[in-house]
Amino acid sequence: VSTESGETVAELPVWVMREALASVGIALSIADMNEPDLPLIFVNPAFEALTGYPTHEVIGKNCRFLQGPKTSASARRRVREALENRRPTRARLLNYRADGTPFWNELSLVPVRHSSGEVTHVVGLHRDVSMDVERERALAAAGRDELTDLPTRRGLRQALGNAVQAAAGAGQALAVVFIDLDGLKEVNDHFGHAAGDRALVTVARTLEQTVRPGDLVTRYGGDEFVVLVERLDRREARTVAERLQSDLAEALAQPIEGTERSITASLGIALYPEDGESGDELVRKADALMYSHKRSRQALRKNP
Ligand SMILES: Cc1cc2nc3c(=O)[nH]c(=O)nc-3n(C[C@H](O)[C@H](O)[C@H](O)COP(=O)(O)O)c2cc1C
Repeated sequence: VSTESGETVAELPVWVMREALASVGIALSIADMNEPDLPLIFVNPAFEALTGYPTHEVIGKNCRFLQGPKTSASARRRVREALENRRPTRARLLNYRADGTPFWNELSLVPVRHSSGEVTHVVGLHRDVSMDVERERALAAAGRDELTDLPTRRGLRQALGNAVQAAAGAGQALAVVFIDLDGLKEVNDHFGHAAGDRALVTVARTLEQTVRPGDLVTRYGGDEFVVLVERLDRREARTVAERLQSDLAEALAQPIEGTERSITASLGIALYPEDGESGDELVRKADALMYSHKRSRQALRKNP
């Protein structure tokens, strides 16, 4: 077998391939393109765990048996068209497990080509994204801050509740970063609120660019922001906090149009589970740490 770059690699025995597919944690299916109505010819144990259907009940069937009354007809049509055109595709579909419970399935379909050029099989990858969908909905319902377009304190509270639950279930850590700006009041007083607003928008965009996709930046209050970072350990949390700190310092070092005053940021970071077991506790702890950093910086400035 040769790879795209031309090097030859040993061909994997079929039983090794089978073992690999069986042991990956990602739900996976394969359909036969040469048979009418794309019957499944393989699903792995992660697929069985995700959907609740045992292999023998699904082989030979089209995978649409996972769909139900509330599955979007247009999303389904897009999948059908992609398959008809032998194109890879990705879709979020409402599906139903064997016991009838609904879940959001992020489906990736990858056509597999034979060396003759003909597409003979389609590989499906399935991921339960119900948590993400729930969070997006809750955030949309909680509304956004008009100036920065960030979710508000209400949105944070809901997202944090879900995140703590998810972290507890998965045995993972999460971090709450509390950020408070110093000097905003002076900018507002001396240069007007438009200048202060520009600084707030700058901070909002900087935070969004610094975090990873999936992390949540919220406007907590007037000059306070809270960032929720999921799925990480203590060391990664430190790195995130340091990056937020340095990116903010850099962004705020640029003169904000119409001001000569400088704005600086103080940060506090609290980790689940060691610093608090609930969302409220974590925010309180991060706020307290931010405040003590701010105090020590001010003391340093007074007595250098
Ligand atoms: C390998 C493979 C896996 C699929 N997995 C799913 C799935 O998990 N959930 C789903 O709703 N549709 C899935 N589909 C899509 C449906 O089987 C079907 O192609 C889609 O509903 C569009 O066709 P239809 O309008 O004829 O139903 C999969 C298709 C293939 C080929």
